Amino acid sequence: MSFASETRRRRTFAIISHPDAGKTTLTEKLLLFSGAIHIAGSVKARKASRHATSDWMEIEKQRGISVASSVMQMLYRDHVVNLLDTPGHKDFSEDTYRVLTAVDSALMVIDAANGVEAQTRRLIEVCRQRDTPILTFVNKMDREGRDPIALLDEIEQELGMPCVPMTWPVGQGKAFAGIINLRQKNMRLFKAGQDRVTDDEVVSLDQADALRARFGHDFEQAEQNIELLSEAAPAFDMEAFLAAKQTPVFFGSAVNNFGVQEVLDALVDLAPPPAPRQSTTRLVQPDEEAFSGVVFKVQANMDPAHRDRIAFVRVYSGRYTQGMKLKVQRTGKELRPTSVVTFLSQRREAVDEAYAGDIIGFTTHGGVQLGDTITEGEALQYTGLPFFAPELFQAVELANPMKSKQLQAGLMQLGEEGAIQVFRPHDGGAMLLGAVGQLQFEVVQHRLKAEYGVEVRLMPSRYVGARWVTADTPEELKKFTDASSAKLALDAADTLAYLMTSPYDLRLTQERHPKIHFHPLREHA
Ligand code: G4P
Repeated sequence: MSFASETRRRRTFAIISHPDAGKTTLTEKLLLFSGAIHIAGSVKARKASRHATSDWMEIEKQRGISVASSVMQMLYRDHVVNLLDTPGHKDFSEDTYRVLTAVDSALMVIDAANGVEAQTRRLIEVCRQRDTPILTFVNKMDREGRDPIALLDEIEQELGMPCVPMTWPVGQGKAFAGIINLRQKNMRLFKAGQDRVTDDEVVSLDQADALRARFGHDFEQAEQNIELLSEAAPAFDMEAFLAAKQTPVFFGSAVNNFGVQEVLDALVDLAPPPAPRQSTTRLVQPDEEAFSGVVFKVQANMDPAHRDRIAFVRVYSGRYTQGMKLKVQRTGKELRPTSVVTFLSQRREAVDEAYAGDIIGFTTHGGVQLGDTITEGEALQYTGLPFFAPELFQAVELANPMKSKQLQAGLMQLGEEGAIQVFRPHDGGAMLLGAVGQLQFEVVQHRLKAEYGVEVRLMPSRYVGARWVTADTPEELKKFTDASSAKLALDAADTLAYLMTSPYDLRLTQERHPKIHFHPLREHA
């Protein structure tokens, strides 16, 4: 197969939702339908506590699980479908944002009873910023939920784009009878409690009389709604969907394995293949022959005896083959992985070859950071991996001063992984940790002890925010650093940041130094 056809048959998407909407269940059913697994239960069994917890044992478990199942590849209708999971806990939202930079589309799962919830809203924002096409799945139709028309209204409001229903429910809750496929003009009849792929009963709408007789008011209501929607909702428009200007909506019940195949088919039929990607120098086509990719996630090994890490790389062009020589562009050094894996369903397997759209994992002992561009040789640099200015700060105090070397090493690695942001103050004071969510501090404290043998105390800090700093000329920058030295620090990537003690402090500093630029977001350069 040619590069172009290998690229065209790939679909890489993230699944996003508020906790408990049914993301794990749906993931499992997608795997089931693609034939990657045969009996439901295997993904679910690996899922640790769903609920927010500050118990670090749970965090560890989640971390283990996310290594195992954060990327899943499946084959469906001769397409290679790469599914990327997004961490559920809000304190790890930075991770999620970065995952969203590595996909070509997103599948949003919504609980029919709860509608669009807080965390989904934040994820939507990120997709919107990047114009990522979104498919919507309204889950739990077997439970009493909101009226589907009202739900569509809400999704439309929240997403800021029209919804185009592709399937429509007949009944809901106890009376849930099935879904009408609006394109194929048939109704798939609901059967509860299936954990295998079975043949559902599908009835053509030519036999609407029989369906009306069987499902009575619910069917008539669905017919009326469909009628209404055909006037009120726009028709599905591929271009508008790909430009993130409308979202196709599907209804179903993941736990009952119902309405899921429609979603999988839509991923193949509607979701886009890998797109060209802009680098600092040129636009790179996915079917170019030379390999290039970006590290969008770094995960430490679960086994503390091995200090190695997996760098998750999204391939943007060319083909990866086993043993290939690759370079990390930031350092110019050769990447020497101990192993390279792909993520077939949930097993990690040595990768034979990978193409644009695929995710591969390089196990290394260091030398790679989040955001690194990896190529066969060309000096390409992709941008766009976001780091958000932390809002929470704590100062690190070492329990045993003899361990300062280990602390440096540990913090550097955790910083590179993106587990936390590390700031070294200009004035030489205690190192500072910056986080977006409180839980990140606990994870880091625990991991420093477990993986680096370093015990630290975390002390309150007077800072409430950070801004990365740039200036148009070196002279202006020097003037600023001389004047504000006490509040400046370098982060793990040696980027200069201004630490602020209040919003007022920032405003004042900006007023005093109008030629300095203060950035709340840093993109890996
Ligand atoms: P998440 O990954 O988004 O956090 O959600 P998850 O799939 O774990 O699903 C959350 C809960 O919702 C689970 O119930 C799951 O069984 C249930 N669920 C998922 N899809 C459906 C559906 O279509 N209909 C109904 N009625 N429930 C659904 P749980 O009781 O919390 O866990 P479990 O003991 O059933 O595993």
